[in-house]
Amino acid sequence: MTRSDLIPPDPDGVDPRAVPQRTLRSGASMPAIGLGTFGSDHVPAAAVAEAVTGAIAAGYRHIDCASVYANEAEIGAALAGVLRRGLRREDLWITSKLWNDCHAEADVIPSCRKSLHDLGLDYLDLYLVHWPFPNFHPPGCTVESRSADARPYIHENFMRTWRQMEKLVDLGLVRHIGTSNMTIPKLELLLRDARIRPAANQMELHPHFQQPELFRFVRDHGIEPVGYSPIGSPNRPERDRTADDTVDIEDPVIVAIAHRLGISPAVVCIKWAVQRGQTPIPQSARRANYLANLRGVVGPPLSDDDMRAIAAIDRNCRLIKGQVFLWKDNQSWEDLWDLDGRISQ
Ligand SMILES: NC(=O)c1ccc[n+]([C@@H]2O[C@H](COP(=O)([O-])OP(=O)(O)OC[C@H]3O[C@@H](n4cnc5c(N)ncnc54)[C@H](OP(=O)(O)O)[C@@H]3O)[C@@H](O)[C@H]2O)c1
Repeated sequence: MTRSDLIPPDPDGVDPRAVPQRTLRSGASMPAIGLGTFGSDHVPAAAVAEAVTGAIAAGYRHIDCASVYANEAEIGAALAGVLRRGLRREDLWITSKLWNDCHAEADVIPSCRKSLHDLGLDYLDLYLVHWPFPNFHPPGCTVESRSADARPYIHENFMRTWRQMEKLVDLGLVRHIGTSNMTIPKLELLLRDARIRPAANQMELHPHFQQPELFRFVRDHGIEPVGYSPIGSPNRPERDRTADDTVDIEDPVIVAIAHRLGISPAVVCIKWAVQRGQTPIPQSARRANYLANLRGVVGPPLSDDDMRAIAAIDRNCRLIKGQVFLWKDNQSWEDLWDLDGRISQ
């Protein structure tokens, strides 16, 4: 499937046909950069929706949504606006995600239908299981917060959820299904048991957190790596920061490349991501920033030396640690990520 459309971008925007595409196992094309829509605590839904309209006018065709971001209805109104103005549905790539409180068999399809209703669409291009745990927490809670019936990853339960995800494909409500925040041992089980294999895995990826093993694993298995927090989520809420966190856009290697090329450190991160082979989904509600990110991926590529220099600054610094999804006392966030190659129980 190729995507083409006839709506001209803003005069300073990017022709969507010039944006690199990823070809998924199904043969579908997904734009190799998307707009993130998680406004954390500081970007209201209306501002995110306005950014969606502006980003599409600037040439974006891929929007990353989720029910838990609590802005799908506003984004739906923005999408309705661009579709009314003549953009075709098939020219857009829209992702949404199943939240952790809807893993039960009876909840998956209704939850997807709710996202479709809010987004004003009759199908999604990609629907992800947001986290492999059914554990959830109130919005804006502290990192110490735990849901009372929190559980570890239980593969049989995850497969019950996944069977419903597969049904969504059978029903024509979603074109592809995928995962997010998975680890290699969890993906190995899923690949063993899935009737419909995940088309994509959304995972944290930025220069200081390159996840080389998981990145290689998903690519080797025909799963597209979609990279979240590609700039290192510089404005994430205080509760998601720890003293050990590093800052990608202040790294001297990134800053030096940015100075030499006359672009911002953020844009260096985005160019690196697309050239490395992942699909970054940077979030911004500022036109100058989301436009710069998109222009970055159609501009001159980074040199091999620059790519090698960035490969060498991996600090294994996970920013989105997920503490709120832990299931028992005295655990550390590392338990969510199966660091010893076994699924933590
Ligand atoms: N699957 C998951 O569990 C998961 C987890 C986290 C995120 N996500 C997805 O990934 C998306 C991106 O992640 P993120 O929001 O954590 O981090 P991010 O994209 O790395 O960082 C976003 C921040 O970067 C700033 N920014 C963007 N472009 C910039 C530029 N060119 N120059 C300077 N600053 C720039 C934005 O501020 P301004 O608004 O000021 O530009 C925004 O506050 C989310 O929105 C969400 O869709 C998924």
